[in-house]
Amino acid sequence: MPEGRTLILAPIGRDAQLIADLLERLGRPCHVVKALSELSQNISAGAGAAIVSEEALRGAALHEIEMVLKQQPSWSDFPLILLVSGGRVTIESERLRKLRMPLGNVLLLERPLRPETLLSTLEVALRGRQRQYQVRDQMLQMERAQEALRRSEKLAVTGRMAASIAHEINNPLESVTNLLYLLRTEASSELMQKYLDQAESELARVTEITKHTLRYYREPNKPVQVDVNAVLDSILTLYHPRLVAANVSVTKEVPATTIFVCANPGELRQVIANLVGNSLDAMRMGGRLRLRICLRRSPSTKTGPQLSLSVADTGSGIDPALLPTVFEPFVTTKGETGTGLGLWVIQELASKNGWKVRVRSSIGPRHKGTIFSILIPVGSAPNRMEQGLALSS
Ligand SMILES: Nc1ncnc2c1ncn2[C@@H]1O[C@H](COP(=O)(O)OP(=O)(O)O)[C@@H](O)[C@H]1O
Ligand SMILES: [Mg+2]
Repeated sequence: MPEGRTLILAPIGRDAQLIADLLERLGRPCHVVKALSELSQNISAGAGAAIVSEEALRGAALHEIEMVLKQQPSWSDFPLILLVSGGRVTIESERLRKLRMPLGNVLLLERPLRPETLLSTLEVALRGRQRQYQVRDQMLQMERAQEALRRSEKLAVTGRMAASIAHEINNPLESVTNLLYLLRTEASSELMQKYLDQAESELARVTEITKHTLRYYREPNKPVQVDVNAVLDSILTLYHPRLVAANVSVTKEVPATTIFVCANPGELRQVIANLVGNSLDAMRMGGRLRLRICLRRSPSTKTGPQLSLSVADTGSGIDPALLPTVFEPFVTTKGETGTGLGLWVIQELASKNGWKVRVRSSIGPRHKGTIFSILIPVGSAPNRMEQGLALSS
């Protein structure tokens, strides 16, 4: 395991060989390197600690190792055992000490070296490093688990969407079947024409749904210029049967000019679908869904304008005690039917893409409801369509 080995850099004299012999005798894996560049490569490849003589870290070399150590991942704090010359504190030794301060995890050993001191110091350094590698492995496991959660939420959303699509297609197909039956028995040419027209418009609806669905699956899985309003429309088309069944009316407010944002369309769709799905869940007894897109000038002068997309409902509202936790994974009030992952995924996608998520909710007897807003930077990406659009703040 390279992660347990000790690297040795002491280019002048016999220190390197003596230390290597000592460690090898004790069965401690080690590797002598000749230059700083070789040391850096070996640290990246995995190592437990490094024993470095101070002559190897003079001038530019000190700066070089500082750069290497600065680039360590967040879990890493690589231990350096520095062999320094013993004796009194002098102006020179103080100057060197200050120069070495940015190196971080440094243990100083004075020469002449005593083997016991070297070994016990190395032991402490290697143990510390082993803990760092454990932290790295745990972080990796956590990342994998989070990825699995993200995928399972995506599957759950896709499953619900599929059920919604099947239902949506079934309605017009049933109408067409009935119309065909009527046509078979109908003699009046006037009525026949009417039935044919109806069947045609029902089939047009099926075509529209399939087009939306296909677009969803053919969307590029990378950031492109997306018309948020078109994504909104396509989600509304797919949620149409659930909205009707739940007696929910929909109003949509969008600027006269199309706003494009640079985003991964699938991710944007997932965010909006999750929000609309939650609103629907909160309005079992009917209500109003208000969707709004507007362009806002950001309060900070550093960032440019932002697109604000809000999904507001007159549903049950979120209990103030629950509100601070709704973005955490597995927080759900829906029992078996909820995963508690929808808002967590939204938060994850938002922080990945530099979007902001805001929520306000009330459970008061007079004003019940929830509003979620997503703020997406419009950015400097090619955005011809937004020119001339009035900014609201
Ligand atoms: N629009 C909303 N109205 C009321 N409650 C909501 C709304 N959106 C989210 N919530 C609350 O936040 C919880 C977490 O939502 P979410 O992460 O999407 O998981 P799930 O929908 O699977 O429960 C929900 O169970 C619900 O209690
Ligand atoms: Mg949800």
